[in-house]
Amino acid sequence: MSDNAAGRFFEFLNWLLNPYHGLQTTEVYDLIGTTSLTEHRLYLNLGYWRDVGTIDDASEALALLVAKRGGMGAGDVVLDCGYGFGDQDILWARDMKPAKIIGLNITKSQVGRARMNVADAGLEKTIDLREGSATEMPIEHDSVDLVVSLESAFHYRTREDFFREAYRVLRPGGRLVTADIVPTINSDNPFRRLEQWISWNMVAGKFNIPPENYYLIPSYSEKLSRAGFVDIDIRSIRDDVYAPLHEYLSRDQSFVNKLPPVAKIMAKWAFSRPAESVYAGLDYILAYSEKPGKSQEI
Ligand SMILES: C[S@@+](CC[C@H](N)C(=O)[O-])C[C@H]1O[C@@H](n2cnc3c(N)ncnc32)[C@H](O)[C@@H]1O
Repeated sequence: MSDNAAGRFFEFLNWLLNPYHGLQTTEVYDLIGTTSLTEHRLYLNLGYWRDVGTIDDASEALALLVAKRGGMGAGDVVLDCGYGFGDQDILWARDMKPAKIIGLNITKSQVGRARMNVADAGLEKTIDLREGSATEMPIEHDSVDLVVSLESAFHYRTREDFFREAYRVLRPGGRLVTADIVPTINSDNPFRRLEQWISWNMVAGKFNIPPENYYLIPSYSEKLSRAGFVDIDIRSIRDDVYAPLHEYLSRDQSFVNKLPPVAKIMAKWAFSRPAESVYAGLDYILAYSEKPGKSQEI
């Protein structure tokens, strides 16, 4: 990754326009830097739009949805995998009052900035942000009450390794919650299927989603089960994510205005197309599961 502004600009264009130019996950996030969709914070998720009207509120609502689904509360030791710039950890520490939040993130540039954000919020005693991978957790067995991964697990090489690690570090009875992106290839119409395939591959290619993570909700559930999890509940929340986000971004130009000129033209073109086409191949899920408690162990 280039150190100077011109080099980064050309690297960004190459990534955006050249279909054969893939980047490693950390390189993608180094390139994106702090160009977040949000205006006041540095969230990197697409948001949950059911009762809100701005991207900042939607990103926060998605973080709260994950925390509430996992029953995050006082006394919990939480492991947050893929914490971006740590905004959700600050929100959870303040609103849900867990005893401790440990974070793992592989993108060094984000780790430094996220730690600064936590220090500015005066929350270093509660939030411990580490550099490390969700697929090889530097965490003790049976030491965590809740593992969460907010719009990150699709990146992991592989997501199944993450499930195995999450199971290992959770205490018996501990919970796992992911907000995650999976494909939706479900149409009988060959043209619609092609549209779904293109839509998925555009995102998977640019955001370095490994082919091993390409599977639908039933396989997601089966892989959780194979890792040992029980009480699995996965629901699609795609209607509260993609279409309202798309509508917001086509109306509000503040994100588009942050982009370099060519990216701006591409973004304007994408936002002029119907959401059903742009996101045709993408599902968005909220997945809950539990490690069996002592009484449930076989
Ligand atoms: C789309 S961002 C989401 C960030 C944050 N959760 C949010 O909602 O703003 C995905 C994050 O996953 C992190 N990530 C990707 N692969 C990872 C891995 N193997 N282990 C830990 N973090 C990873 C990236 O560095 C990035 O911070």
